[in-house]
Amino acid sequence: MGTELKGKAIVVTGGGSGIGRETALAMAAEGALLAIADINLEAAEETVALIESKGGFAMAGKCDVSKSAPVDAFFDSVIDAYGRVDCAFNNAGIEGVYGRTSEYTDADWQKVLDVNLTGVFHCLRKECQLMLKQPTGGSIVNTASIVGLIGWRGAPAYVATKHAVVGLTKTVALEYAKQGIRVNAVCPGVVETPMGERLFAETPGAKERLVSKHPAGRLVQAAEVAKAVIWLCSDRSSFTTGHALTVDGGFVVQ
Ligand SMILES: NC(=O)c1ccc[n+]([C@@H]2O[C@H](COP(=O)([O-])OP(=O)(O)OC[C@H]3O[C@@H](n4cnc5c(N)ncnc54)[C@H](O)[C@@H]3O)[C@@H](O)[C@H]2O)c1
Repeated sequence: MGTELKGKAIVVTGGGSGIGRETALAMAAEGALLAIADINLEAAEETVALIESKGGFAMAGKCDVSKSAPVDAFFDSVIDAYGRVDCAFNNAGIEGVYGRTSEYTDADWQKVLDVNLTGVFHCLRKECQLMLKQPTGGSIVNTASIVGLIGWRGAPAYVATKHAVVGLTKTVALEYAKQGIRVNAVCPGVVETPMGERLFAETPGAKERLVSKHPAGRLVQAAEVAKAVIWLCSDRSSFTTGHALTVDGGFVVQ
């Protein structure tokens, strides 16, 4: 366990489950002050309770990232509590319904865009506004996916948003590189989280097929994504910005 995040104030969106929860727990174990935002307040509060049970510090807030007002209000509450936002993990996301493009409805398309893309934009805008006022800037990590880098049949909206998150990451990184704000993305393969479980349930044998697609011969553990996010948040990656870091056991390079 490192100490690079000790005393840093860090926001994690979608921190009530899966990758967000695991990352928040790992960050708190390194001494960070966590702020957990989730549309599911009960889940966010459970993450806070887990952190506190291990002696860490965290606060929770109900926040639907697809709307700008709750995002702005949540970050303002973090400033009230911690005085600053050193790092942010923009991780909240939904998979949407599975179906090919010819069958996809306007409503299903829009729902995924609102959370996965507009939600990340709302967070980035507020984070940059806050970090520009801080002499130390900040480090932001967005959750994209391997499908932010490659195509994937049957999830057109999800894949489009994850590609867009990679593009947005590069753009915001360029905009604020001189002001000491670093912006990177993490691109996990298939992770064993509640979202992963819903994917496995789609078709019989899906989990085994997905395992076989990862050259490392297994799926990703949320804790492995957490380690990459912690590295990108910490000063150990001080000159890395605009990067999309895969955590996929070699999936996209095969
Ligand atoms: N599980 C995978 O295989 C995988 C792979 C690559 C990338 N990802 C991405 O990782 C991120 C986390 O996924 P996960 O697997 O932990 O999923 P998950 O479903 O376990 O957790 C997602 C969390 O986000 C919250 N959330 C959903 N909509 C929200 C909204 N509008 N505002 C705020 N919070 C919201 C949920 O309540 C939940 O707590 C997502 O962006 C997902 O696209 C997941």
